[in-house]
Amino acid sequence: MSVLFRASCVLLLGLLWFSLSPSASCRVRIPPHDQVARVARFVAHQCDWASMATISTHKPVVGQPFSNAFSVSDGPEGSGTGVPYMYLTRMEISVQDLEVNPVASLSMSLAQTDYCRQEGFDPQSPLCAHIILSGSVVEVNGTEAEFARKSLFSRHPEMIDWPSDHNWFFCKFNITQVWVLDYFGGVKTVSPEEYFNASLHRKHH
Ligand SMILES: *[C@@H]1O[C@H](CO)[C@@H](O)[C@H](O)[C@H]1NC(C)=O
Ligand SMILES: *[C@@H]1O[C@H](CO)[C@@H](O)[C@H](O)[C@H]1NC(C)=O
Ligand SMILES: *[C@@H]1O[C@H](CO)[C@@H](O)[C@H](O)[C@H]1NC(C)=O
Repeated sequence: MSVLFRASCVLLLGLLWFSLSPSASCRVRIPPHDQVARVARFVAHQCDWASMATISTHKPVVGQPFSNAFSVSDGPEGSGTGVPYMYLTRMEISVQDLEVNPVASLSMSLAQTDYCRQEGFDPQSPLCAHIILSGSVVEVNGTEAEFARKSLFSRHPEMIDWPSDHNWFFCKFNITQVWVLDYFGGVKTVSPEEYFNASLHRKHH
């Protein structure tokens, strides 16, 4: 094989890889796995829903963990705050648990986006980045409720038409600890201070 031929093959393969690789195009990119707090903020913003575990108050599983799906938003698309907001009603089974004990755990995974499927990562693989938030659910009022409304309704437009006789109210997840699985070597923890301090976007100097 001539040097010239080999060189053009390498170039061609390179171009092919570039055009086929989705991460090389316009798709939003996950932060480097060692920037754990930024990865957590990224996952929290990308996910439109979360599994929330409460401590059940319902027979026959009183006192046992009870996991259920909820729509969440930490801010309008592109401007995440890291605070997961929710739109809840006291008619809902998990919300009834929260009225007795507001402690809960939220989990969100990039398996909920196209990312893991496109990269070929199984949902249980740590490479398919996922986070678990520990804390409690608290109602928000006033300007924070206005922000919650804007955050949720922009990403979940059908909420606008949910039946008003259900007495919906806005809540936030009050984070006490963040657990991150984004690489091999076991779970990593991020304090709420580190989590909220982290920048969602790469800083340009
Ligand atoms: C928000 O308003 C509701 C209903 O008036 C009240 O029960 C709740 O304690 C308030 N929450 C906060 C955080 O002020
Ligand atoms: C959030 O949780 C922390 C730790 O449990 C608690 O001290 C704080 O009062 C809570 N914040 C709200 C708004 O409930
Ligand atoms: C907050 O972020 C800045 C800038 O990225 C960083 O230098 C600092 O160490 C961070 N502080 C905490 C408590 O994470």
